[in-house]
Amino acid sequence: MNGPRAPQGTPRGTSPGTPHGAPVGEAPLLEVNELGKRFGGFVALEGINLSVQPGERVGLIGPNGSGKSTLVNCMCGTLRHELGTVRFNGRNLDGLKAHERTRLGIARSFQLPRPFASLTVAENVRVPILYVVQARIRHVAATDARCAELLGLVGLADKSRKLPRDLTQIEMRKLELARAMAAEPKLLIADEAMAGLSHGEVDDILALLLRMNEAGVTVIMIEHIMRAVLHFSQRLVVLVAGRKIADGNPQEVVRNPEVERAYLGE
Ligand SMILES: Nc1ncnc2c1ncn2[C@@H]1O[C@H](COP(=O)(O)OP(=O)(O)O)[C@@H](O)[C@H]1O
Ligand SMILES: [Mg+2]
Repeated sequence: MNGPRAPQGTPRGTSPGTPHGAPVGEAPLLEVNELGKRFGGFVALEGINLSVQPGERVGLIGPNGSGKSTLVNCMCGTLRHELGTVRFNGRNLDGLKAHERTRLGIARSFQLPRPFASLTVAENVRVPILYVVQARIRHVAATDARCAELLGLVGLADKSRKLPRDLTQIEMRKLELARAMAAEPKLLIADEAMAGLSHGEVDDILALLLRMNEAGVTVIMIEHIMRAVLHFSQRLVVLVAGRKIADGNPQEVVRNPEVERAYLGE
């Protein structure tokens, strides 16, 4: 009998690319193939290949300017790439706009939170519920209940009537995550959701992302705080100057001399 092939270089029984006991042969949720992106003459991304399995927690790291946010933008449809393909849930996303990709199940939080300034916290969460999940939630009561549930999940229940400008930095980041979750994503991409937070606040966001993952959401975490990335990630991907230089077991990746050089040289 021919079982599924084990990934190369992976010891039997510990396949890091297949968490939660997922079979090795399971189709990837996200598949980036030979992606290339330029800004004018500047090559921001080149030959990026990345595959993410359903339920996986992937850390994406790299020095400032290495192309992490650009890659997220190309996956989410905020930017158009010139080369390669992005597939999600078996479907080629080329040509689809950001909101169409959101409807398919890709949500992201922005490095700089982008709430609607004139809407309350609750209204900010209600917008993606109404416009992304509207086909499934038709009733005001159901929308309100889902909104309350999300605000409770991120610990903002008592701030629902506040405006974003009245929130602290961590509350703003929690709102950003609640808004991303409101779209009921299959894949959540958190772009530096912990920047500027205290040690304890980082732990809060970490716990939140882990809880979302336990609820079945695949998560890509972009983060500079190595303690958080290493705690969270089952796999670590490293970008340097628009190229992927490592992809694998986090403990092995951080000991990779090329990765060490990239960080020491920053
Ligand atoms: N819209 C843009 N126009 C021109 N250059 C950009 C744009 N967005 C990003 N870049 C450049 O692309 C490179 C990668 O940026 P970015 O993806 O934001 O890096 P990271 O998120 O890893 O810090 C940087 O050199 C940045 O200046
Ligand atoms: Mg960035």
